[in-house]
Amino acid sequence: MNLSAINPFLAKRLTQSSAAARRQAPRRVEYAKLPLAPVNASPVPHLTSLYHFSRAGEYGDRGYPGNCGGMLIRDLLRFFQPTTVLDPMTGSGTCRDVCLELGIHCWSSDLHQGEDACDARSFPRDRFQFCWLHPPYWRQKLYTDDPRDLSRTPTLDAFLNRYRQLIANCAGALAPGGKLAVLMGDYCDREAGFVPLVYHTKRLAFDAGLRQCCTDIIRFSHGASSSRKVYRSSFIPGLHDVCMVFETAHL
Ligand SMILES: C[S@@+](CC[C@H](N)C(=O)[O-])C[C@H]1O[C@@H](n2cnc3c(N)ncnc32)[C@H](O)[C@@H]1O
Repeated sequence: MNLSAINPFLAKRLTQSSAAARRQAPRRVEYAKLPLAPVNASPVPHLTSLYHFSRAGEYGDRGYPGNCGGMLIRDLLRFFQPTTVLDPMTGSGTCRDVCLELGIHCWSSDLHQGEDACDARSFPRDRFQFCWLHPPYWRQKLYTDDPRDLSRTPTLDAFLNRYRQLIANCAGALAPGGKLAVLMGDYCDREAGFVPLVYHTKRLAFDAGLRQCCTDIIRFSHGASSSRKVYRSSFIPGLHDVCMVFETAHL
């Protein structure tokens, strides 16, 4: 017979004290064994569906809210080998810095420089072989006071309407066979609850006529500020975001 049948009060107290002990236990780094990737002709063999580099690289500014580190961008550019890149939400310039290092022409902008990526007139007329897009995860982090800022959209519907426009603009700026890589994470909003932004990204990209051209890349969120917080509520922590690569039709 188990303890909760014999003495439910003692069982409850023991469960509570072990939960409290777990909360107070010193937190250590855990190592997971990753599956072996098949050998193939990729120029970047370590680029798989699980992206786990804890080193961010010397790109952009790690102190910028939402900074994503440049290693994944670098690996994608080395894999797809574009010669022109569009970077319409550059933030601290992470993608721009990676392109500079690799000698790739990059057009970068951000609302901080007055360019609204949801307005197609902000984009140059050229057609690009690759676009790196790292938008706000709706209002998880606020970036500017500008009402055109995606992170300032007051409702989920308003966000999705502008996000649709953004993805359509990026798709329209790609050359035939051009790639759009979007880094996005699901988000739990205080009012709207769990928002599956990865799902919405795919839906909007398909609506814009794009097709997904490789596996989702699950990027481990090393260094996220939320990892160091202590919450009173109980939830399943999300420790990753997802990079999805779409492409336009080839001619
Ligand atoms: C997640 S951050 C990008 C961070 C960047 N990847 C980095 O490593 O520094 C999202 C960026 O989108 C910008 N942004 C938000 N709404 C925008 C809009 N309508 N047009 C252009 N940029 C916008 C914000 O200013 C912010 O810099």
